[in-house]
Amino acid sequence: MTVLNDDIRRGEVMIRDLSKSFALKGQRLTVLRNLSLDIAPGESLMIVGPSGCGKTTLLRILAGLDVPDSGEVRIDGAPVLGVGTDRAVIFQEPRLLPWLTVLGNVAFGLEVRGVPRTQACERARRYIRLVGLAEFEDAFPRQLSGGMAQRVGIARALTVQPEILLLDEPLGALDAMTKITMQEELARIWREEEVTMVMVTHDLEEAIYLADRVLVLPGDKGAQVALVDIDLPRPRNRNEARFVKYRQNLMARFGLH
Ligand SMILES: Nc1ncnc2c1ncn2[C@@H]1O[C@H](COP(=O)(O)OP(=O)(O)OP(=O)(O)O)[C@@H](O)[C@H]1O
Ligand SMILES: [Mg+2]
Repeated sequence: MTVLNDDIRRGEVMIRDLSKSFALKGQRLTVLRNLSLDIAPGESLMIVGPSGCGKTTLLRILAGLDVPDSGEVRIDGAPVLGVGTDRAVIFQEPRLLPWLTVLGNVAFGLEVRGVPRTQACERARRYIRLVGLAEFEDAFPRQLSGGMAQRVGIARALTVQPEILLLDEPLGALDAMTKITMQEELARIWREEEVTMVMVTHDLEEAIYLADRVLVLPGDKGAQVALVDIDLPRPRNRNEARFVKYRQNLMARFGLH
């Protein structure tokens, strides 16, 4: 008997026994080893770990830009076989097209998918408003600050209405103050769009500010991968005692104080 489920869950990620290694100077470098993890629809998962531990590799596999050696990723039950419109990727640099305006850049993803211009612009404007750049829709990338350009990148990713947002250190290139503002923006956008968010960051405070759970990739061969639940009300307060405790806990996992 087939049981039909009315409650179709969207943006659910299932990672099973994922392993990935690369050839390095004639040897195999194992980056991910039998990683299994479920990410719930609408969850915010932050990935932290030392440089070279495999954060970008994992994100690229989720995006369908790279393939694992073994194991699999399923999204809403279907195996990931390549890139798909259910996922949008945001990198550290927004990589905007310099000859297009903000509106042109944000609408671009829709237009290449064949959405008629008026409709594409209408939807693009909604997301430009969401990231707070309504006044700048006619500006060109060279006229924007780093934080503004990254907001355009976020709007562009959201415009195609993905179920899952994959972000690789999206705020890494920003100054400390802009970064905090953008963390607040990301928290708001994630809540309003009800999107599953999987984000790599090297900033432990940023991870605690944004995460439902933090995936800790230790990098060290013998060490265990860990998942840390961040059980704090939102919006979060970086100075609250429990927040500080989480930060100390995460730092200690990397031998930091
Ligand atoms: N295409 C590739 N070919 C060979 N080795 C690779 C390739 N991609 C990644 N690696 C290696 O795999 C390891 C993990 O790389 P990855 O980019 O996933 O690390 P990361 O955790 O994102 O690091 P960072 O914090 O510096 O961005 C590194 O040692 C890297 O050299
Ligand atoms: Mg990386």
